Amino acid sequence: MREPALVDLRSDTVTRPTASMRRAMAEAEVGDDVYREDPTVNRLEERAAAMFAKQAALFVPSGTMGNTIAVKLHTEPGQEVICEAKAHIVTYELSMLAWFSGCLARTIPTAHGILAWEQIQREIRPVAPFWAPTGLIEIENTHNMAGGTIYPVEAVDEICHQAHALRLKVHMDGARIFNAAAALHVSVARIAAHVDTVMFCLSKGLAAPVGSILVGSRDDMDRARLHRKRLGGGMRQAGVLAAAALVAIGEMTERLVEDHANAGFLAEELANISGISLDPRRVETNIVIFDVSGTGLTAADFSACLKSHGILMSPVSATEIRAVTHCDVTRRDCERALRAIKETARSTTASA
Ligand SMILES: Cc1ncc(COP(=O)(O)O)c(C=O)c1O
Repeated sequence: MREPALVDLRSDTVTRPTASMRRAMAEAEVGDDVYREDPTVNRLEERAAAMFAKQAALFVPSGTMGNTIAVKLHTEPGQEVICEAKAHIVTYELSMLAWFSGCLARTIPTAHGILAWEQIQREIRPVAPFWAPTGLIEIENTHNMAGGTIYPVEAVDEICHQAHALRLKVHMDGARIFNAAAALHVSVARIAAHVDTVMFCLSKGLAAPVGSILVGSRDDMDRARLHRKRLGGGMRQAGVLAAAALVAIGEMTERLVEDHANAGFLAEELANISGISLDPRRVETNIVIFDVSGTGLTAADFSACLKSHGILMSPVSATEIRAVTHCDVTRRDCERALRAIKETARSTTASA
């Protein structure tokens, strides 16, 4: 059998819509969603709200827009948003929390991306003559740049209970919450039981072509709809996209365990390659971050070598590379990637 030209492990955002998504898109019933007349979008939002056991949901074009709207919902200009230091919201969203909501990020570094209430508590600031008061707590589950790490369900509950006692809201960036649910064998409703809003992505491991969803209270989602329009996210016959999204949440969540098994396999094998370092026990879902400094190459040079073997992975720091497994990557593809990594590591350590 001929091997595909490229094995693309840069991100799960590269997944392509499945055959059943394409069929559903072709057959989707549509209307004008700004008038709330698109029956497929309406069905998607009802289904998402039910899955998360929240009052309402809003279909948005991207995760970034979902997070941006959530910050706006829960804060006033001049406040701080507490989040983990490598949170997507602060590192990869073009400072939208400052631009759209007028807030600063108060970041907390952690070893593995998971915040504990005690760490958050130390950073909470009341109204005072010099401080920007805390407006919101944001948690990322799974945590992308910490390598797909998962919040223990009880840790989320604790953060929410303590925050609510102080009248603070909690937003979860659950771009990959379905990966967390699959790994923990619990429902997304349980994980997000006490958070005020959750954003989750359809266009990553769930393979829909476009879109994310924000879920929360009816009142918040009514206000979120207006912010979506302000941001240029009022889509018209979006039912063609919602149709694919319905297939994504209906058919693609259970298989995520396969991606986790492939990521675990990659991690175990990588740990045995000279010059590469990572702790495979830290790989809990579909993201593997490994350090290549022992090979003498920078992450950028290492990934350029891999590309010449047809393997795409993302350098995420000067020394680290990220590989993300997804439905368009098979175990065979992972074996091929490992061969290329071994070859690259061997050639550099041999010539050192
Ligand atoms: C944790 C996390 N949050 C939010 C996003 C933003 O999603 P989008 O690319 O759809 O804006 C991403 C995208 O990679 C992500 O990994």
